[in-house]
Amino acid sequence: MHLSIITCLPRLLESPFNDSILKRAQQKNLVTVDIIDLRDYATDKHQSVDDYAFGGGAGMVLMIEPIDRCITDLKSKRQYDEVIYMSPDGELFSQPLANELSLKKNLILLCGHYKGVDERVREHLVTREISIGNYVLSGGELAAAVVADAVIRLLPGVLNDETSALSDSFQDGLVAPPVYTRPADYKGWKVPAILLSGDHAKIEEWKHEQALERTRKRRPGLIVD
Ligand code: ADE
Repeated sequence: MHLSIITCLPRLLESPFNDSILKRAQQKNLVTVDIIDLRDYATDKHQSVDDYAFGGGAGMVLMIEPIDRCITDLKSKRQYDEVIYMSPDGELFSQPLANELSLKKNLILLCGHYKGVDERVREHLVTREISIGNYVLSGGELAAAVVADAVIRLLPGVLNDETSALSDSFQDGLVAPPVYTRPADYKGWKVPAILLSGDHAKIEEWKHEQALERTRKRRPGLIVD
């Protein structure tokens, strides 16, 4: 998979891709990530990427021209499956959507900033819009990092234990069961005895029951009876 992330604040995206699982995924060549500075596609000497909104109103708006030049340049090098604009009013991000995106080959993630982008970008250049929740961030960068993380960890070979993404919360429509590690008894707070029993069938049954109970309590909307 290849991800091209367009931003006017590239430094905001440095650390998420330079640590842990996302770093390893790139080192193993399972994904390539390009962070593209929108200012490189500006046309004036000040490298402007934003301007005042027509009709007034507070806040700057990202201009269409640098974005169009950038996307056109990217498309001349690769065929992209989607051009995704990160926006608080987009489609709500979810595990099924992460699963769907993990099957694509090349994706562009466009990060908005300030008051957003010129609407013509959304009308003519973007194929899809994603929100990571009903709240407003200062820009799309952190949202793009969230989407990239959720998608990249699903790519085959990224996680050492292949089953570990499959047993994530939400993958089977349930949240994950509780997990424990040593010590088995800490200040009298004990690990459930079943987990120490060595009876794998019973342990799997227990985990499934716990996942169901947690889902009923915490995310009742996920259970369709
Ligand atoms: N940009 C600003 N807020 C956002 C959100 N909640 N999701 C995606 N992109 C955003």
